[in-house]
Amino acid sequence: MLTNLQQQPADALLALIKLHNDDPRADKIDLGVGVYRTGQGETPVFGAIKAAEQKLVETQDSKAYLGPEGDMGFVHALMPYIFGKQDPDMGGRIEGMQTPGGTGSLRLALAMAQRAGVTRVIAGKPSWPNHNQICKDLGLDVVEFNHAAADGTVDMDAVRGAIAAAGEGDAILLHGCCHNPTGIDYSHENWDEIADLLGKSPVLPIIDLAYQGLGQGMEEDAYGLRRVLAAVPDALVCYSCDKNFGLYRDRVGALYAMTKVPADLTKIMSNGHALARANWSQPPDHGGAAVRLVLEDEALTAMWLDELDQMRVRMRQVRDKLAAAGVTGGVDLSPIGGQNGLFSIIPFTPEQVQEMRAKHGIYFAGSGRINVAGLTTGNIDQFIAAVADVTA
Ligand code: LMR
Repeated sequence: MLTNLQQQPADALLALIKLHNDDPRADKIDLGVGVYRTGQGETPVFGAIKAAEQKLVETQDSKAYLGPEGDMGFVHALMPYIFGKQDPDMGGRIEGMQTPGGTGSLRLALAMAQRAGVTRVIAGKPSWPNHNQICKDLGLDVVEFNHAAADGTVDMDAVRGAIAAAGEGDAILLHGCCHNPTGIDYSHENWDEIADLLGKSPVLPIIDLAYQGLGQGMEEDAYGLRRVLAAVPDALVCYSCDKNFGLYRDRVGALYAMTKVPADLTKIMSNGHALARANWSQPPDHGGAAVRLVLEDEALTAMWLDELDQMRVRMRQVRDKLAAAGVTGGVDLSPIGGQNGLFSIIPFTPEQVQEMRAKHGIYFAGSGRINVAGLTTGNIDQFIAAVADVTA
């Protein structure tokens, strides 16, 4: 029976980890999968998380099951940061549940939307490849619109057209900040317009917020999400703590549903719980509990926010340095300065991507997406020289 299965290609992004590890060159550079790195090229555990983990070891008295919704203390502690301190549940219209990472949240959101009658997902192109993979696995059709215009800014005409063409049974999947893979985000004015358009459309917004705090700041990065939620009757929000708490392998995320009628929330969330039970039963506890302990403690919260600020400042410095290189070989690196988060795309040809790997030991996605956090004062000049070499 099992021999009926067809060989599947390895996930291209995750396969890069092994490709880089297997390269024996001492000066190789990893700009592949999206993890933050310090100026020394390390991905350390946040100090605030270490302290919370210590507390957890000392105080946790049971590892008995919590239920499919996970740690609701964690879920609620995040809400002021996501939805705003003024009204973190928007008058009782928002509830959430814990999920295994942002991927778990997206899986639940899309499956819940499907249960509610969604058959098509409208998504920008390019997008994080797993968005498409999850839709495909669920049997949802994906309709793509162009994300970025030729000048390196968002293609607002394409967004307008996509929303105008959408109808009942459609959901639109938007990146809240730090667009993956382009780093090209909507401006506040763009979000204002998108929110107004969505407010007049029957399309269900699903907002993926996986990098809050890594773009312009915790509050700034939530602008678009809050603007959309204020304009529409219902929406789903997929949240990840993998990057902004550095908890990647602990798989820490949350799904939030907002609805017009607060009394409907119990029914809506019961679908999330049932889907979680059928998929993974209950989310892993450890990382979510550590985040909760950080957010329950003023000093640890301040420490976490400070660590996040340092990450953002460092990535901005890398972006500024790349942008200052301007036209390098055959590509212009200056747009990278105005982009946000971990990623930017450099328009390499497939052959140039291969040459960067083979000749220079520099690894990044086949799309030309680089993780800017992989660049340090020690390797950035080497990177710029290699770009000049392969694109000349
Ligand atoms: C990435 O895009 O590199 C990250 O979101 C990690 C992942 O799971 O793909």
